[in-house]
Parts: sequence; C-alpha cells; structure tokens
Amino acid sequence: MDLHDFADVAENYDRYLEVMYEHDDHHEHFQEFYLDLAKRYGSGGVVDVACGTGAVLLYLAQHGINADGTDISEEMCKVAAKKAEALGLHLNIIPADMTVFDSGRKYSLAIIARSGFMHLPTQFLQEKALKNLHDQLVPGGILTLNTFDPWPPVQAQQMLTTPEDYTFRLEYTNLSGNREKIYNAITYNPYTQQMYGNWKFVEYNSRGEVIGERIRPLLMRQTYRSEMFLLAKLCGFTVEDIYRGYNGDKEDPGDPESAAKYRENLIWILKRV
Ligand SMILES: C[S@@+](CC[C@H](N)C(=O)[O-])C[C@H]1O[C@@H](n2cnc3c(N)ncnc32)[C@H](O)[C@@H]1O
Repeated sequence: MDLHDFADVAENYDRYLEVMYEHDDHHEHFQEFYLDLAKRYGSGGVVDVACGTGAVLLYLAQHGINADGTDISEEMCKVAAKKAEALGLHLNIIPADMTVFDSGRKYSLAIIARSGFMHLPTQFLQEKALKNLHDQLVPGGILTLNTFDPWPPVQAQQMLTTPEDYTFRLEYTNLSGNREKIYNAITYNPYTQQMYGNWKFVEYNSRGEVIGERIRPLLMRQTYRSEMFLLAKLCGFTVEDIYRGYNGDKEDPGDPESAAKYRENLIWILKRV
C-alpha cells in the first residue's frame, strides 16, 4: 500500500494539495498546458494515466475533450468518479496499474501528469509501463510524462533523514472540518534512486487537542534526463520536445549545460515510433 491507496488520503487529496501549491507552485497553468496538448494531439482519444482525483481528466472533459482516466488507486478513482458525476460528466475511469492498463481502446494521446511516472519505483516497472503505454497508443501517438532532475544537495540532505525524521509541511482543513497538520520524513537511496518514507497526518479538534494520527508510506523514484532518453528509445518512442514546466518554454537539446541551468519540472513529449 502506498500513500494514494488510502481512502483518507484520496478523500483529502484536493484539499491539502491546494494548500501545498499556494506558495511553491511547480504546477501553475498545468490544466491549460494539458488542454493545449489534447487539442494538438488528442483527436484520436486521450487517456489520463495515474489520473488521481481527476484534476486533468475533468478539466479536459469539461472542455469537450474525449478522455478516459485510469489510476492504480481505487480510492483515487472513486473520488474522481464522484467529482465527474457531480459535474454531469459520464467518463470511463478505470482502476488499473499503468504497467498493464488496457481499456480495449487505442488513444492518440496518453498523459501522465504531475509526477505520476515518478511513482514507478524501479527501472523495470518504468520500462514495463512505457512499453505498455506504447501499445495503448495509435502509431504516431504521443505520451507525455514529467521528471525532476535529481539535485545532489537535496539528496544529500535526504540521505541524512530517517523515515521517522518528520518535518512540518502544511496545515489544512480535512473533509471532517478538522484542522490537520502534515509532516514528511523522506529519505533517499542514491543506488536505487528511490525516495521513500512517510507522511504523517495529525488531526486536531476545535479545542486544539490531537484526536488522531495516521502514517502513510510513500515510495518514488528519481530519474535522470539521460536515463529518460534511453528509456524512451528502448520502449519505442522518440523525444519530440521537452518543456521546462507548464509555461511553454522548451529545453534546448543542443545545450550540454542544460541540466545545470534548469533542474525543475521537465515535461517530456514522447512520440510512438
Ligand atoms: C502525485 S499523484 C498525481 C495525480 C494526478 N495525475 C494529478 O495531477 O492530480 C500520482 C498518482 O499516481 C498513481 N499511481 C502510482 N502508481 C501507479 C501505477 N503503477 N499505475 C497507475 N497509477 C499509479 C497514484 O495512485 C496517484 O493517484
């Protein structure tokens, strides 16, 4: 079980994400970015892979894009389906692992938004997912996913953190209307490139007394851009574009210093050969 498999995480996900990205928002304009991609590449159908609670999927559907959703977490799918129903949208939201997902339909665009790919914890699973998603696309179809270049000073800090070494992350109001504080303890293994640890949710009543504590595990893998080029090639894709975040700026493929200049959110546009 990982963080998003828990009902309490899925049900509160939109609430705490809103607070998380209030100040430090790598994701500003992400919905518009994916809508532009869907308009450019999605005429043959779109699938939002690792759709979570539907932030991209529902936005696309509301803008007239024919899109399915899928996520390994049944709880995240349930929340997405409930939100779709409330909006009067009739969508296929299929609980499935992206390494084996197959809806029986082929798509011209598959989107893995906001770090979904980083939740594949091994290179073996990354390869399996890319090969499977290749097969879910029509020839010439596009797969987009994002990575963050691993940054050694941050990893060095995380290597000194134990999975119980909590740091305060944010405070928000949960679904029950109670204040809740979130703490993270994330460590890094440079050999597996895995980040792992726990999120701790501490819930308070109106008198400020602690009334509950939940600990939820998290496992992710960091991927170097050099690996992504090889993985793409291995799995039958060419690299069409790499965007620097969601504002439309692109990487310069001829710049050998690029990784040192920009190490944030890389959005890969991969084309099925
Ligand atoms: C950081 S959330 C992003 C959710 C959504 N894309 C968004 O933008 O809000 C990552 C999601 O990846 C899903 N996930 C993790 N591993 C997966 C897998 N192997 N196959 C499909 N979904 C997966 C999790 O359940 C979670 O909902």
